[in-house]
Amino acid sequence: MYTYESSRSLFERALHSIPGGVNSPVRAFKSVGGTPVFFEKAKGAYLYDVAGQRYIDYIASWGPMILGHGYEPVTRAIQQQVEKATSFGAPTEIEVEMAELIKSMVPNVDLIRMVNSGTEACMSALRVARGYTGRNKFIKFEGCYHGHADPFLVKAGSGVATFNIQTVPGITAGAANDTLTCAYNDLAAVEKLVAGHKGEIAAIIVEPVAGNMGCILPEPGFLEGLRRICDEEQMLLIFDEVMNGFRLALGGAQERLGIDADLVTYGKVIGAGMPVGAFGGKRHIMEVVAPLGGVYQAGTLSGNPVAMTAGLTLLKALKEKPELLTELDEKTLYLKDGLDAVLKAWGQPYVINHLGSMISIHFSAQPVVNFAAAAAADNARFNRLFHALLKRGIYLPPSAFESWFLNNALTKEDLDQTIQAVKESLEEL
Ligand SMILES: Cc1ncc(COP(=O)(O)O)c(C=O)c1O
Repeated sequence: MYTYESSRSLFERALHSIPGGVNSPVRAFKSVGGTPVFFEKAKGAYLYDVAGQRYIDYIASWGPMILGHGYEPVTRAIQQQVEKATSFGAPTEIEVEMAELIKSMVPNVDLIRMVNSGTEACMSALRVARGYTGRNKFIKFEGCYHGHADPFLVKAGSGVATFNIQTVPGITAGAANDTLTCAYNDLAAVEKLVAGHKGEIAAIIVEPVAGNMGCILPEPGFLEGLRRICDEEQMLLIFDEVMNGFRLALGGAQERLGIDADLVTYGKVIGAGMPVGAFGGKRHIMEVVAPLGGVYQAGTLSGNPVAMTAGLTLLKALKEKPELLTELDEKTLYLKDGLDAVLKAWGQPYVINHLGSMISIHFSAQPVVNFAAAAAADNARFNRLFHALLKRGIYLPPSAFESWFLNNALTKEDLDQTIQAVKESLEEL
């Protein structure tokens, strides 16, 4: 029987000193209720909380731990780098290697700049698009999340959706006015918006496979349509590959879905659990970035040698053994089939959206193709499922508005245990 006394007392202590007791809102369990679990260590596919209880992990730190926790080559490389230096604030060979490696894996990237988070990557890519085109407005999709920079916190997904925050206090009308929004998968709405703002829109930013309203797939023709519209209107197409990158394929969603972006942003897997993000694109666009051009962007710890070493080691492993991503996809498909079987037998409406190693369940009778459909699902039921699984040692994202992320340390036994736990949990819902 799982107990949460140690986590509860830590959470109560945290509430005195940290807003909501957490350093990122979704961790507070506010939408699913109950006490957030405080963790102490992790190895492979397992998390261990402060009471020593073990959980099978379906978050992978929200994506980065794609080969499992404590992946030996990464751990060793970090240890070796720490012995040499933790930061210079000056260039290193590791950064050059990292940029070269990414370019060899990812389409349409001639120049790439390292930052410290996905937020910084998206914020900077938007600035580049604005600087390059000389236009201010951009289009984003309801329920997509591109980090917490001001212009993106309009109809955003992830925690903003989880907490049902309609407008974010502190964001000026000026910052929000240039953000145009459409429903995900609604190409006609994009066309209408573009026609109404001729020559004003710098870019369309999209999560090619969305993961911040649960997992939602692009319908056939949607991303192709965005590409076409951007070409016709001289706008830039920004793929936010923070979740998709190095997960859906070595070359991310661009490769997996066969669509070219003008600018791409990365985070999560790129840092192997260290704080890393990146934005990149074609040379003629990225040349606007300082010091080549006037679009200023900088960072004291950007390209940090420890973080770069971690990311470089993980990306090298993925490149050297492409079968790792294939295995991970196969495991996710196995989980999906198992979940499908137990949900079907249960007999209530559900939708499983899935691509590669991204997957989520919505309790919905309708296809979940956009944020409105995700929000209309029975998310109270998801919350009950979350807790029923937690007490069986399965750790899902604590919100229906998040994709689950599988890691390749998961074994068939872990997946079978998860499917059995879901079967038992459904009987309790
Ligand atoms: C698609 C996407 N873009 C950007 C971000 C922001 O990244 P970070 O949390 O590293 O700032 C996230 C975070 O979850 C994300 O999922």
